[in-house]
Amino acid sequence: MRKLTAHMYTTLDGRAEFPKYPGSSTPSNKPDPAFIEMWIDRYDAVDTLLFGRRAYDDQAVYWPSSARKPSDPKFVRDFSQWKDGVQKIVFSHYLTKTAWQNSRIVKGDLTQIVARLRRERGKDMILEGGPLLTQQFLQRGLIDDLRILMFPVILGSGKNWFGAMLNQQTLKLRSAKGLKGGELLLHYEMIR
Ligand SMILES: NC(=O)c1ccc[n+]([C@@H]2O[C@H](COP(=O)([O-])OP(=O)(O)OC[C@H]3O[C@@H](n4cnc5c(N)ncnc54)[C@H](OP(=O)(O)O)[C@@H]3O)[C@@H](O)[C@H]2O)c1
Repeated sequence: MRKLTAHMYTTLDGRAEFPKYPGSSTPSNKPDPAFIEMWIDRYDAVDTLLFGRRAYDDQAVYWPSSARKPSDPKFVRDFSQWKDGVQKIVFSHYLTKTAWQNSRIVKGDLTQIVARLRRERGKDMILEGGPLLTQQFLQRGLIDDLRILMFPVILGSGKNWFGAMLNQQTLKLRSAKGLKGGELLLHYEMIR
């Protein structure tokens, strides 16, 4: 069965923002350990990405290979190529077309859509947000595991990943790593 992992880049207080903190803007020509664990190590195992329409709109501008410059680091160009190639499922009530290759627009009952995707032939899937869509997946118990990169910041503003959860959800810690900039890379499995 295809696994569905949710990715969250989050502040300590659960905000889906990318805040500045000491070390956060250090440019690098090499992928950091979080990028390697969350993405590069899983290129072969994952072939489908899921997005809310707003998260997709942001990514469709930033990540296609056509947006890359020759001066971009190789791992960034590779990531764009990988993202071009995988299936991109966009949840939207209104969208009718997209420009990014291999994109598919879906709407309807989330539980049924995910069940259908799991039945399709393919590899594992990653839900990339945003928070509005991720909350609905969490509330319906549709996610198998979470990979969280937690920034060392309490922000107090921006969208919350979890919203108002209806029921407690319990998780099992699979791994936890502290990173150079004070971030925590966490891998949790949802207990059903
Ligand atoms: N920190 C991170 O890791 C991270 C990740 C992703 C995004 N973000 C940030 O979060 C913000 C966007 O997040 P967001 O929560 O506002 O929006 P979002 O979840 O990305 O997208 C919301 C949109 O998805 C569609 N949608 C939601 N539920 C649906 C359903 N049940 N069925 C069909 N379509 C559905 C709707 O699109 P329509 O309006 O077209 O119907 C809705 O307006 C951006 O600022 C982005 O930068 C952060």
